[in-house]
Amino acid sequence: MIYELKLLSESLVNVQSAADPARVPDGFGLPYDAARSNAHILSDGFGRLHTYLRISLVEHCNLRCRYCMPDDGLEWTPDEQLLTDEEIVRLASLFARAGVSKIRLTGGEPLLRPRIESIAGAIAALPGIRTLAMTTNGLLLRRKLPALQRAGLNLLNLSLDTLRPDRFEAITRRKGLHLVLKALDVALEMGYHPLKVNCVVMHGINDDELTDFVALTRDRPIEVRFIEFMPFDGNKWDERQLVSYADMKSLIERLFPLTRSRNGPNDTSRTYQVPGFVGSVGFITSMTDNFCEGCNRLRITADGHLKVCLFGRSEVCLRDAMRSGASDRDLEEIISLAIGRKFARHAGMHAIAASRNRPMIQIGG
Ligand code: 5AD
Ligand code: SF4
Repeated sequence: MIYELKLLSESLVNVQSAADPARVPDGFGLPYDAARSNAHILSDGFGRLHTYLRISLVEHCNLRCRYCMPDDGLEWTPDEQLLTDEEIVRLASLFARAGVSKIRLTGGEPLLRPRIESIAGAIAALPGIRTLAMTTNGLLLRRKLPALQRAGLNLLNLSLDTLRPDRFEAITRRKGLHLVLKALDVALEMGYHPLKVNCVVMHGINDDELTDFVALTRDRPIEVRFIEFMPFDGNKWDERQLVSYADMKSLIERLFPLTRSRNGPNDTSRTYQVPGFVGSVGFITSMTDNFCEGCNRLRITADGHLKVCLFGRSEVCLRDAMRSGASDRDLEEIISLAIGRKFARHAGMHAIAASRNRPMIQIGG
């Protein structure tokens, strides 16, 4: 049985070599790193413990956001190459046993996954899982949220880049703003506090709406998170469309004062509040001020590949390993090796833009 551990050159940097041992082949044809045999499965060579796993449930979506989905669409991976429900739950359970305490369901649009309620229920019930989160575009949320909440979904992020119907259609190439706004109200009524709203900010597209989004936080427990536009394959990233954290903040401060709130060590967003407002405002500054140092995330793509970095191209295929009969112990070994090789940080937006990865929709937001 040979498992291929793809290690391709990528736009990542290592400031010091993470565990860099003499590697000898083990029974799986994997380079076995003796120095890691005692390491915590989820820890890397820089002392980061990866307790947060994002699982993509589907590659497709009912929107076509320009920053996520290539213009001319994509060839969808055939269903039989996607993880089955059982495989997803097996992996979630294995990661939970290893110490993962937070799992986020992503896509594509996760609500398009058949039986998402039962997948969510099985994951939420795993010992050690404290947070089961989901990132969704909200179109199907109103109908699906009650069952998901019963299943144990306790954190929700809604993607929303504009509050104007014509722009919604221009950005997502579909109609549906009214459905997302309805979903937002329903989620708040059902107690998702704070409700996180992800807004990818693009120059000349929606950067004149920042203060409208901030106004949403006036009387509601919403955390608006402004995200710097990131390059992924096929999304025509252009630095001129990037609105930096510093620029977003000053655009907002023309109208609203912002005071800094406390952030946890693994937070990806820098959080602020307008004094007196109920909600908060975060900035996800991956391009101009990366937060790789505190990264505790892992990703599993819908076709079963483990990605240890959003911007990294290296992947290990857990699906093939499972389908070739790997035991949980074997999977742990594969996972541990992949995490052990994680780089310190990404190499910057230009290197990322110039390198190959997957389109965002095939990674999982
Ligand atoms: N830049 C920044 N964020 C992105 N997302 C998708 N593509 C990009 C990109 N190019 C985020 C959106 C969405 C989530 C699924 O992924 O915020 O909420
Ligand atoms: Fe779909 Fe989200 Fe990508 Fe938009 S960003 S196309 S809603 S997966």
